[in-house]
Amino acid sequence: MKVLVVGGGGREHTLVWKLKKSPRVREIYCAPGNAGIARDAACVNIGAEDIPGLLAFALNKKIDLTLVGPEAPLTAGIVDAFQDAGLKIFGPSRAAAEIEGSKVFAKDIMARHGIPSAGYAVFTDPAEARAYIDKIGAPCVVKAEGLAAGKGVIVAEDRQTALDAVQSIMVDKAFGKAGERLVVEERLTGEEVSILAFTDGFNVVPMISSQDHKRAFDDDQGPNTGGMGAYAPAPVYTPEMHGQVMEEILIPIIRAMDAEGCTYRGVIYAGLMVTAQGPKVLEFNARFGDPEAQPVLMLLETDLVEIIEAVLENRLDKVEIKWKDQACVCVVLASGGYPGSYEKGKVIRGLDQVPGDVVVFHAYQHRLRSRR
Ligand code: AMP
Ligand code: GLY
Repeated sequence: MKVLVVGGGGREHTLVWKLKKSPRVREIYCAPGNAGIARDAACVNIGAEDIPGLLAFALNKKIDLTLVGPEAPLTAGIVDAFQDAGLKIFGPSRAAAEIEGSKVFAKDIMARHGIPSAGYAVFTDPAEARAYIDKIGAPCVVKAEGLAAGKGVIVAEDRQTALDAVQSIMVDKAFGKAGERLVVEERLTGEEVSILAFTDGFNVVPMISSQDHKRAFDDDQGPNTGGMGAYAPAPVYTPEMHGQVMEEILIPIIRAMDAEGCTYRGVIYAGLMVTAQGPKVLEFNARFGDPEAQPVLMLLETDLVEIIEAVLENRLDKVEIKWKDQACVCVVLASGGYPGSYEKGKVIRGLDQVPGDVVVFHAYQHRLRSRR
């Protein structure tokens, strides 16, 4: 079959790498891809958010299956658009992707269905948000409702930082429309763990646990980044905790989405905080994590295409999903200075010298060439 992967980062390179191992896959395209992905797939000069462009390409090339990496096209309705055109695509519908696209939607559905998460309040008026922060005091967490490329969450240790976050999100509109509504949350403490799962809307099959690391320097120091690495499995996630997460979080959210008319199919990502009172949800994402996908997919033994077809045909309970009984770590190499300003255009050498059990994925997303 011909497969299209949408996106151009490390996660998408990993998806391409995994698809390449499938006996079912004959041709792989990636839009827009990157120079590293170009070694494994045919890169197509169409942006991940250009839904009409992607749809026209998929129809023209008679693509048999499309996988979507990033959240933006999912929340913009790429799955609905492809399905309406009769194309097979793996991911949640626009309505279901609201679980990531709107933090208010996510908090409200968790509250309605008793899924453990931090206490919260929602605001459309900055004065009311400030008054609430004055009442609850710091620490607290201030979040823009919508997608903000990972920058819309401020964990405020003191009152002034929280008030500054309200100013930046709601008044200065640092994230545009994504900050029209704001969530103020209770601050949770503990260790974080990422649990990704495949779901066909009814059956929920968790992947191996993982943990990502966002600070730029060793020992959790330095500025937050898009992720400096991840490993799987995460030792903090014990078998007992797994039972609890399935019963109290993953199965209930998939049932809740279905009950509320937005059946969820694809990969659901639960970002959890392991608190003294047990695991609680920090966020849901509507896709594979990046960089969690790198170690998790490297440990997946089963053919990804087989799993995806089972999801699309509502028979996920009929496939056996196997994991390697090993551990895997992803280390991100970035130019000095990242995530601030850093030197670009360096040549990467030695790719032919990495040992057999190491895979190099490329995360750099180049700017699209002009299509004139
Ligand atoms: P989110 O995008 O909602 O997952 O938030 C991004 C990061 O902010 C999380 O991975 C946590 O490290 C942190 N965070 C979010 N919500 C909370 C909370 N209620 N308490 C403590 N930390 C949080
Ligand atoms: N690694 C965090 C995320 O993918 O959202």
